[in-house]
Amino acid sequence: MSTSIARRAVVTGGGGQIGAATARMLADRGFAVGVLDQDGDAADAVAREINAGGKPAIALTAQTTELAQLQCARAEFEAEFGPATALVNIAGLPHAAAFDDLDPATWERVVAANLTGTVQATQVFAAGMRAAGFGRIVMMATMSAVLANQGQIAYGAAKGGVISLTSSLAVEFARDGVTVNAVCPGAVATPAALAILTTEQRAERERRIPVGRLASPEDVAHAVGFLVADESSYINGLMLYVDGGLHVAGIF
Ligand SMILES: NC(=O)c1ccc[n+]([C@@H]2O[C@H](COP(=O)([O-])OP(=O)(O)OC[C@H]3O[C@@H](n4cnc5c(N)ncnc54)[C@H](O)[C@@H]3O)[C@@H](O)[C@H]2O)c1
Repeated sequence: MSTSIARRAVVTGGGGQIGAATARMLADRGFAVGVLDQDGDAADAVAREINAGGKPAIALTAQTTELAQLQCARAEFEAEFGPATALVNIAGLPHAAAFDDLDPATWERVVAANLTGTVQATQVFAAGMRAAGFGRIVMMATMSAVLANQGQIAYGAAKGGVISLTSSLAVEFARDGVTVNAVCPGAVATPAALAILTTEQRAERERRIPVGRLASPEDVAHAVGFLVADESSYINGLMLYVDGGLHVAGIF
């Protein structure tokens, strides 16, 4: 175990687009990074890329919906680097369907990936932070949980749960030196998001966003970087909108 690394972060969904950008950003800021993903190959590729830049990272293969897998991942991370000082809950599953077409199995799957997994990863990794008296937890929500977004019924509701969880834990963990905040991106130009937007919907979205473009994964990672900084100790329970000004522009 290395004792020279003061800051150690686990990024769930670290093999995905926003997760990989966040893992790279944290490594650049001196964090040892655990790249946790259900897709072990994707996590491995991100960790190797960080290592190739001379920075510490390991891949952790786990599903956030499986508590035992998360506990193994925590043990693996702690054996390599020591207890996590930050957790970024990015693992999630976008989904769009009309309300009337939403079947119970789909609802369960979307809520499990976006909300239950976030609860469980936080249970597993927050304990060490609270015991140490320092920690930073960032949740990945979405503007679809804040503003109505056509078809994003289960996804918006699950991420709405993530926002509520953020508020509750921000209060519960504050006296232990652990802050809990959420990032709410608008549409980010990732394959997962673009797959559920038609060309026309994308053009319409870009027209409505005041800055005139979709977000990049790095735009979102930058917001996470702000929230995990040591200096952000007084920022707690915040929903940080990363939407190019969409929320003040009117219709989503
Ligand atoms: N892309 C967008 O427009 C957008 C907007 C707002 C919020 N978000 C949120 O940002 C996050 C990342 O989005 P992305 O566009 O990078 O998607 P992505 O599909 O590229 O990345 C998601 C990653 O999470 C992993 N994952 C999913 N469920 C998991 C689970 N239960 N356990 C472990 N790993 C799991 C996937 O394997 C994947 O690598 C998601 O939570 C998404 O809801 C995305």
